[in-house]
Amino acid sequence: MEFFTAIQDIGVYVKNAKRNCKTIGLVPTMGSLHEGHLSLVRAAADECDVVIVSVFVNKKQFSAGEDFDKYPRDIKRDREILESANVDVLFAPTNAEMYPDSLATYVEVDAKLANCLCGATRPGHFRGVTTVVAKLFNICQPDMSYFGQKDAQQAVIIKRMACDLNFSTGISVMPIIRDNDGLAMSSRNSYLSENERIQALSLYKALCAVKKMVEQGEVCSSRIFRKIKQILISEKDIKIDYIAIVDNESLQPVETIKEKTLIAVAIFVGNTRLIDNVVVDGES
Ligand code: PAJ
Repeated sequence: MEFFTAIQDIGVYVKNAKRNCKTIGLVPTMGSLHEGHLSLVRAAADECDVVIVSVFVNKKQFSAGEDFDKYPRDIKRDREILESANVDVLFAPTNAEMYPDSLATYVEVDAKLANCLCGATRPGHFRGVTTVVAKLFNICQPDMSYFGQKDAQQAVIIKRMACDLNFSTGISVMPIIRDNDGLAMSSRNSYLSENERIQALSLYKALCAVKKMVEQGEVCSSRIFRKIKQILISEKDIKIDYIAIVDNESLQPVETIKEKTLIAVAIFVGNTRLIDNVVVDGES
């Protein structure tokens, strides 16, 4: 596996791959890799000749007071995992490499998509995400790029950015990978104590319960909202950030569940913020 930290070096590699007519699959990550990330790597390997994984904890998507400093970082372990997964290139730039001067240019996301759900409490978060992902698209020139449904709003916004700004990469959104108990895998799960982890499971339980309600014919968003709330507030250390029942493209609230309705939830368990979601289809 090639290991690059310099944009110029990966640029030479990419140019060479293109000259040899190789297709490139890109998996952008912030490292501390788990099976969720590896599911994206496998999808990329299935569809592309060359797989590039980026590991970069992007300061620009963290708000003041968030966990940028304590975000888990272990590049040695990530490198070993990616080596075993037969990844072709690990690109792990430094902050100075990605942001040598303070930026004068950002990719701004329409407020309708960026200021709801996670964006409501994380101002500037999606601007940070789109800006770094746009830079990675330009650096790595992927034919396909892979993102997880775990970050549903991020996936919607990136798909929209790729379309609006005519990036030539295709965007693939892969299903949420969960631990055996149902908890969606996340680098932030390592912050949870044993007891918090048990309480965190109610997030998955709530989503399963409302998915079943919809399958049994429930289409009223407010009843679904109440059911999720009722399950979550039964845990003493859980604070609800948001419960959103929205269209899976526009991210605007729906009163009645229709085709491709996103039910997305964010909670704090102690100090740890967790997100999860399910996409449901109401009866037409
Ligand atoms: P990170 O949280 O490291 O996630 C990298 C990719 O892995 C994202 O597309 C995310 O949705 C996906 N992912 C994480 N957990 C997953 C799970 N349990 N199942 C399936 N996919 C999962 O998301 C980011 O980094 C950053 O915002 C980034 C896009 C790299 C930009 O900095």
